[in-house]
Amino acid sequence: MTETGKKQGRVFSGARPTGRQHLGNYLGAIKNYVALQDEYKDTIYSIVDIHALTTVETTQNLKQNTYEMALDWLAAGLRPDESIIFIQSHVPEVMELHTFFSMVTPLGKLTDLPTFKEKIRQQPHNVNYGLVGYPVLMAADIALYKAVLVPVGIDQAPHIEFTREVVRSFNYRYKTDVLVEPQMKATQVPKVLGIDGVSKMSKSLNNHIELAATPEETQKRVMQMVTDPQRARRSDPGNPDVCNVFTMHKIFSSAEEVEMINTECRRAGIGCVDCKKIFARNLNDNLAPFRERRAAWAQNPDQVWDVLNDGGKRAKVIAEQTIAEVKEAIGLP
Ligand code: TRP
Repeated sequence: MTETGKKQGRVFSGARPTGRQHLGNYLGAIKNYVALQDEYKDTIYSIVDIHALTTVETTQNLKQNTYEMALDWLAAGLRPDESIIFIQSHVPEVMELHTFFSMVTPLGKLTDLPTFKEKIRQQPHNVNYGLVGYPVLMAADIALYKAVLVPVGIDQAPHIEFTREVVRSFNYRYKTDVLVEPQMKATQVPKVLGIDGVSKMSKSLNNHIELAATPEETQKRVMQMVTDPQRARRSDPGNPDVCNVFTMHKIFSSAEEVEMINTECRRAGIGCVDCKKIFARNLNDNLAPFRERRAAWAQNPDQVWDVLNDGGKRAKVIAEQTIAEVKEAIGLP
C-alpha cells in the first residue's frame, strides 16, 4: 500500500480501436479498468492500433474509431491523471520487444492457439504473418510495462498463458529476471449477450446497445430485446432464469425491482413490455453520468488527443527503460 492507499504493481490492458463502445465492452472490460484504477497506483490502458491492422484492411476509420473509444473510456471514468491512456503505435518499442520475443517462441505454439485457428476461419483470404504474431505482440505489450495484472475477458486466457510462457522463456534463455510474469484478472461478467439473447454482444452482429446512444435510441434497442422464448403470450408465466433482460436487470436494477420481476414474471404478473420499460429506464439512469461526461469531453476533441499524446509520452519513458534492460540482458553489443 502507498500513501494514496492504492496497491503497488502495475495493471495493463489493451483493446483494439473498435469505435463507439457497447454494453458488452463496458461490462466485460471498461468497468474493470475503472475499478482497478481506484485500486492500483499504476494503471495503463492502451488502444492497440497495431493489433487492429491484423484484421482491418482499410484504415480510413482508424483515427475516428480510436477517438470514439478514447471518449468512451474517459466518459466511463478513466482519469488521465491517474491512468496512462495511450495509443500502442505511439510507443514503437513494443515492436522491438515483439521481435526479441519472436526468437524465443516456437512457431507451433502460435499456430496451435485457438484464437489463431478462429482467425484463419474468419478470414481465410488474409492469413497474414501479423496474425501469427498477434499473441507475441500482446505479450510484448504486457511485458514492456512489466505489468503484474491484466484485466481481460476469459477468451483472452490462452494469450495471457502464452505471455507467461514467453516471459519465462526469455528470462531463462538470457539468464535474467528483467521481465515479469503477469497474472490474468478475468472480468466478472464473462459473456454479455446481445439483444437477440443468443450471441455475444457485438457490433458486427448488430445486436449491441451503444453506451453513447441517446436515451430514446437506448429505449428502442431495449424494447427489441428477446426474452424467454417459451413465453408467447402475456398471460403465459415466464422464466427469468433464461431471460437476458432479467440478467441485465440484475446488473442495473435495484434489489427490490429484481425481486419483484423475479416473482411477477413467473406468475405472469408482469409482461415483457413493462419489464423492458423498467430496464430501459434504469439503464438510462445508470448511463446519465456517462453521457454527461462524454458530452463534456466531446466539446473539445483536442483535449482527448492531448490525453492520448501525453499518455504516449509517459508510457514511452517506461518502455525505453525496459528495452534498455532487455538489450543488456540479451547481450546485444
Ligand atoms: N487481444 C486483446 C483482445 O482482443 C487486446 C490486447 C492487445 C490486449 N494487447 C493487449 C489485452 C495487452 C490485454 C493486454 O481483447
